[in-house]
Amino acid sequence: MKKQSTNQKFKKPILISGIQPSGRLHLGNYLGGLKNFVELQNSNRYQCYFFIADLHSLTENYNPQKKQDQIFNLMADYLAIGLDPKKSVIFLQSQVPAHSELAWILNTITPIGELQRMTQFKNKSEKQEENINVGLFDYPVLMAADILLYDAQYVPVGDDQLQHLELTRTLVRKFNSRFGETFIEPKAILTNVSRLMSLDNPQKKMSKSDPASCLFIDDSPEEIKEKIKKAVTDSGSEIKLDRQKKPAISNLIDIYSNLTGISPEKIEIKFKNKGYIDFKLDLANVISNYFSSYREKKAELLKNPAFLKKLIKNGSEKAAKVASAKLLEVKEKIGIKI
Ligand code: TRP
Repeated sequence: MKKQSTNQKFKKPILISGIQPSGRLHLGNYLGGLKNFVELQNSNRYQCYFFIADLHSLTENYNPQKKQDQIFNLMADYLAIGLDPKKSVIFLQSQVPAHSELAWILNTITPIGELQRMTQFKNKSEKQEENINVGLFDYPVLMAADILLYDAQYVPVGDDQLQHLELTRTLVRKFNSRFGETFIEPKAILTNVSRLMSLDNPQKKMSKSDPASCLFIDDSPEEIKEKIKKAVTDSGSEIKLDRQKKPAISNLIDIYSNLTGISPEKIEIKFKNKGYIDFKLDLANVISNYFSSYREKKAELLKNPAFLKKLIKNGSEKAAKVASAKLLEVKEKIGIKI
C-alpha cells in the first residue's frame, strides 16, 4: 500500500518554467506568470521546477555590477510570493551546467532557418541593433534544453513564448527519430489573463522601460497610489468595461478584477454612480493590500543574502542531479559517452 503511494507521487507530471533576472517584476508579469506558478505549485498535481534564467538574461544588454542583485531579487520574489523550496525545486540556471551542454548538443540538430523565423529574435534585434549576439539568436535552443533536461510535460509561459515551445517540440521529434526515444514533447500552459496596458497609454503594453506608467509588484503603497491617481482615463465618467470605447478604464477594471476575483460586471455595479476618483482610490488600496505581505517578506529576505544563496545552492544541486542523469542518457544516445 505504502509503496503504491510513493509511486503515485513519483509519477506526477513534471512542470518547468523560468523568468529572466533582468529587473523588477510588474503586475503584468505577476498576473500572466508568477501568480500561475504559485497556483500550479499549490495544486499538488505536478512536480514543479522553477528557475532563474540568468544565462538567457545575458543575451540582452546588461550591467555585470547589477546582475547579482537581480538574481537575488528574483529569488526573493519567488519566495515572497509563495514559491516554496519544500514543494518545488527552485534553482539558478547557470548553477546547472547541463543546460549549456544540452543546448550545444541541440544546436547541432537545429536548422538555422528555424531560428531565423523567431519573432522574439526579430523584435529584440530591432531593439538592440548594436548587440545582435549569437546568444540572442540561440536563445530558443537553450530554452529547449531547460525543458528537455527534466522531461517536463508542462510549461507555463506567456503567449510570446509559444513559438519557442513549438521549436522545442520540433527538436524533440527530430532528436527522437534520429537517436531513439529520449525526450517528451512539452505542452504550454497559458493563462487567460488579458494583457495589461500602460497606465498612460492603453494602446501600449505595460512595460518596465517606462516605470512611471508601470506598476511594479514591490512598489510602496504611496507609489501605487500616485501612479493610479495619474493613470489616464477615458472620456465620460462611468466605470464600465468597454475595451473599444473605454480602453483605459477597462485596463484598470481588469486589474481590479484579477486581484479581487470580482467579475467586471459586479465591479460596474459596485461603482455605479461613483466617479473615476473613487474607483481609483479603491483600486490603489486593493493593489497595496494584495501585495502587502509579499512586500514585507521580500524586504526581510533581501536582508539575508546568505540565506538566499544557500537556498539557491540547495535547489540547484537537486536540479543538477536530475539534469545530469538526462544529459548522460543523451550522450549515450549520440555516441559520446565513453
Ligand atoms: N523565455 C522565457 C521568457 O522570457 C524564460 C524561459 C527561459 C523559460 N527558459 C525557459 C520559460 C524554459 C519556460 C521554460 O518568458
